[in-house]
Parts: sequence; structure tokens; C-alpha cells
Amino acid sequence: MKEWYEKIKEAQSVETLEEIRISVFGKKGVLAAEFAKMKSAPNEEKSKIAKELNAHKSSLMNEFTARKITIQTMELQEAMKKESIDVSLFSTSSQAGALHPVMETMDKIVEYFSSMNFTVKTGGMIEDDFNNFEALNLPKYHPARDMQDTFYFKDEMLLRTHTSPVQIRTMMSTKPPIRMIAPGAVFRRDYDLTHTPMFHQIEGLLVDKKGKVSFANLKYILEDFLKYMFGDIEVRFRPSFFPFTEPSAEVDISCVFCEGSGCRVCSKTGWLEVLGCGIVDPNVFEAVNYKDVSGYAFGLGVERFAMLIHKIGDLRSLFEGDIKLLEQFQ
Ligand code: PHE
Repeated sequence: MKEWYEKIKEAQSVETLEEIRISVFGKKGVLAAEFAKMKSAPNEEKSKIAKELNAHKSSLMNEFTARKITIQTMELQEAMKKESIDVSLFSTSSQAGALHPVMETMDKIVEYFSSMNFTVKTGGMIEDDFNNFEALNLPKYHPARDMQDTFYFKDEMLLRTHTSPVQIRTMMSTKPPIRMIAPGAVFRRDYDLTHTPMFHQIEGLLVDKKGKVSFANLKYILEDFLKYMFGDIEVRFRPSFFPFTEPSAEVDISCVFCEGSGCRVCSKTGWLEVLGCGIVDPNVFEAVNYKDVSGYAFGLGVERFAMLIHKIGDLRSLFEGDIKLLEQFQ
């Protein structure tokens, strides 16, 4: 028996210790063998032998457990020493990723309006007819619905064609005043140089007491915003039509490619259209049960902004995941 106490004490690894455990405590181990021998011992000695053996069994077990803990602690310390990281070493060069130009542009736009105290609101991409059209003064069969080629599901559900439903949902769930923007993906059945079936818009809505919000307020903030985005450019407002705003305008900036002298991108006009806006139509306020308020709204396409900022010719290239194109924006 004694030798086993030594062996346990000298064991250097969990594996050796495990072998010892099997040799001592296992079914075919030394303790089992000693207990078996006891059977053939004279009866009067049996209880004495059994006592002795049981005493060995428990003290061997104590030794074993103690040694196991010691070895495990040692092994852990060893591992920690080996695996520690020298943070003062130089690293090999690593490749940094970058934001997709559309997301980067979106962030910049959100940054501007956040600084002007607009809160960011979001909504679902699957919408119902009421929030996407009806409440925005676009009743069923209204010809203006054709302005946005829609993907329909069954049961009057659809993929939102613009971020304007977020204004409706926000007004339905909160009291005025409101100062919000809604960035997000929108969907239309369109595909060419300047249109993809999915693109991103940012909607803006400001609502306050009746008489407090004017077209001049809208004009001021949009001009300031466009100069923040594009630098030294000219801005002009053109009368236009949206069912949910009256009066409505489309906003142009002087062409960033030819600085207004006329080129292929601006179709020789010197101007590029960048957003739609207007004074919220009273019918919209009626649909959401808002009384004695006035407001303005605007909406813009984020991809269009990204294309103009980075001078990208084909909108579709932004969604092809072409590493060569994307690497230019690191
Ligand atoms: N929702 C309009 C569109 O997608 C943009 C817009 C928003 C125009 C708000 C005016 C006011 O074309």
C-alpha cells in the first residue's frame, strides 16, 4: 500500500493521476484485490483487516483529491503563462473594413437632423394600405398612386413604397409637436440606371401649433442641410405635386458634376433634383385626428445622395457587392 502514497505524491499530470486512480480504486485495482484476499483470511482477523483496508482507502482518497487540485492549479498557471498576450508587441498589418457608401451617407444625413433636434423613428417594411396610401391623402384608385409602382401582398398589405407611413404611425401614436426623421428601406417595381427595386429614403416631419410652421421654415432648413451635404452649391425650389403636401415642391441643387454649366448627368440643365417636400396637407392631419396644427414634410433618396457625393454613375453598382467598387470608399 505505502508505495501508492508515494506514487500519488509524485504524480505530475492529471493523466498519470488518472492511471493511478484506476490502479488503486478501480474494479481490478489493488484495493479490490486486497479486499478479495481478505475472504480467505481466518475469521478472527477479518474485521481487523477490513478496518485497516478501509482506513487506507479513505486516506488514499484524501491524498488523491488533494494532489488532483494541486496539479490542476499548476496546469492552469502554466497555461496562463503560455497563453498570455504581450500587448506591447507590434501587430502584423490588418485590413480595416468600411461603411457602405449608402450607410455612410445615411449616417451623415441623420447626424445633421439629429443636431437640429429631430428624433429618429422607424417602421416596418411591410405596410398596410391605410398607412402607405390612404392616410396620406391617396384614396383607392387615385391616379397619383401610379407615381409609385407597388409590390402588393394579399389582403391589402404591401412593401412600403416610401417612408411616409412612418409619419402616419408616429402621429397616430404621439401628440404634437413632432420633429422626426424616418430613415429606412423602401420598395418599388423599378430597375434601371437610376432605380433599384429596393432603396433607402429619409422622411422628415415637423408639426407644431397652427400658424407656427411655414414654407420659409422648410426652405431654410433644407437649404442649410443641402449645403451641409454638398458644400458650396446653389439650391432652388420648383413647384410640384405630392398628394400629402400642399403646396409641394421639388428641390434641385446645382449640378455637382459640371457646377451648373450643363452636362450629361444633369441633362444639360445644370440642376439635379434631390428631394421632395411641402406643407402637410390638411387631409393628412384629419386622417390622424390632429387638430389646430401646421407642419412641413420632406423625403429624399439616400442612394441618390450617395451617388452625387461620390460621383457614382450607375445606382445598381451600389448593390452588386463588388469589392473593387466598395474598396474605393475605405
Ligand atoms: N414620399 C415622397 C416620395 O417617396 C417624398 C415626400 C415626402 C415628398 C414628404 C413630400 C413630403 O416620393
